[in-house]
Amino acid sequence: MNILLTGGAGYIATHTCVELMKAGHDVVVVDNYVNSQPEALRRVEEIAGRSVKSYEADCCDASAMNRIFDENRIDAVIHFAGLKAVGESVHIPLRYYRNNLDSTLTLCETMAAHGCKRLVFSSSATVYGVPDEVPLREDMFCKGCTNPYGWTKYMIEKILSGVVEADPEWSVVLLRYFNPIGAHESGRIGENPNGIPNNLMPYITKVAAGQLKQLSVFGNDYDTHDGTGVRDYIHVVDLARGHVSACDYAAQHTGCEIINLGTGVGYSVLDIVNTFERVNHVPVPYVIAPRRPGDVDACYADPGKAERLLGWKAEKNLEDMCRDSWRWQSGNPNGYQA
Ligand code: NAD
Ligand code: WQD
Repeated sequence: MNILLTGGAGYIATHTCVELMKAGHDVVVVDNYVNSQPEALRRVEEIAGRSVKSYEADCCDASAMNRIFDENRIDAVIHFAGLKAVGESVHIPLRYYRNNLDSTLTLCETMAAHGCKRLVFSSSATVYGVPDEVPLREDMFCKGCTNPYGWTKYMIEKILSGVVEADPEWSVVLLRYFNPIGAHESGRIGENPNGIPNNLMPYITKVAAGQLKQLSVFGNDYDTHDGTGVRDYIHVVDLARGHVSACDYAAQHTGCEIINLGTGVGYSVLDIVNTFERVNHVPVPYVIAPRRPGDVDACYADPGKAERLLGWKAEKNLEDMCRDSWRWQSGNPNGYQA
C-alpha cells in the first residue's frame, strides 16, 4: 500500500516509517515540523535504504492536503500529527483544540473527497482518565479526561467513530498507545523533546548524560509494589509494528475498532531507574519529590484485543527499552542537531 503519515517526522512516526518500508509498503510524509526536524526523515532514509517522499505542510491547510492527495494515490493514512504535551495543553488549550481537531477534520474531508477511507489514528491511554481498575480494556467506560490534550484525543475518537457510522465503507482503527519509550536499535532515530523533558525516560537519559542534575521521582506513596507510579512502557519499535498490523487490518475490514497498544505489564518508576542503571552501567541520581498533580497509581493495558484482531503483541522487554533509549541519547547528545 501507499500510506500517508501525517506528523511523519515525529518520534513514533519515524519508527513506523521504517517498519512500513521493511514490510514492503511505500510511504508519503506530511509534517509542519512544529515538533520535529527534517533530519529525522533523512535518517529514516538512511536506515531503510530508500527515499521518503515528504511534504512540509500543515494538516489544517486544506489546499496543501488536497495537493498531496492529488499528487499521490493514497491507500491509507496514519494520523500521527498532533500536539502532545499534557502540561502545555492546560496552559494553551485553544492551541491544542485548534491544531488537533482541525488537522483531523481537514484530513478526513480531504480523504473523503479523494475516496480514501482507511485511517489509523494515534489515540492514547489518556482517554481512560482515572481508571477504576487495571488492566484497561477497550470496552471500559471512559469517565473523562484530566487535561485538554486528553480531551482532544477523546473528541477525535468520537468524531472518527461518527464518520464510520455515517459511511460504513470507512475503516478506522483507533490505537490507544500506553507509554512509548526506546529507540531504533541503530541509534539513529529516537525521541527528541524540545527543552526539559516532561516524560520519564527522556528525563532519565538526560540525567544519565549529565545534562540534568537528578531525576525527581514524583511520589513514593502510591498503592504499588514500591510506592512509585506504575505504567505500561512499550518499545517504540513494537509500537511501530503494531501500526503495520493495523494498516493490514484496515485494508481487510470496514468499521471502527479501538485497540490498546501496550505490553500488559506494569513497571514502576524505580523499576525503570534500576533497570536503566544495570543494563547501561550509568548512574541515575534521583530524589523523591511530591506527587505530580493528575498522576494515577497504576495504568496498564489488557493487550488481548490487539493480539486477537491484529495478530500483534509486544516482543521487546524493559532491558531492550533501556538499552536502546541510552544508545540514542549517548550517540546523539543534542538530538538531531549537529
Ligand atoms: P511527536 O511530536 O514526535 O510527533 C508529532 C508530529 O506531528 C511532529 O513531527 C509535529 O511536527 C507534527 N505535527 C503536529 N501538528 C501538525 C500539523 N498541524 N500539521 C502537520 N504536522 C503536525 O509526537 P509522538 O510522540 O511521535 O506522537 C505521535 C502521535 O501519537 C501524537 O498524536 C501523540 O498525541 C500520540 N501519542 C503519543 C504518545 C507518547 O507518549 N509519545 C502517547 C499516546 C499518543
Ligand atoms: C510516567 C511515570 C510519573 C517524570 C504521559 C501522558 C499520556 C501519554 C504518555 C500521550 C509517572 C513518573 C515522570 C519525572 C517521574 N502521552 N515521572 N519523574 O504521565 O504516564 O503519560 O505520556 O498521549 O497521555 O500523560 O508518562 O512519562 O510523564 O510519567 O517520577 O520527571 O513517571 O509520575 O508515574 P504518563 P510520564
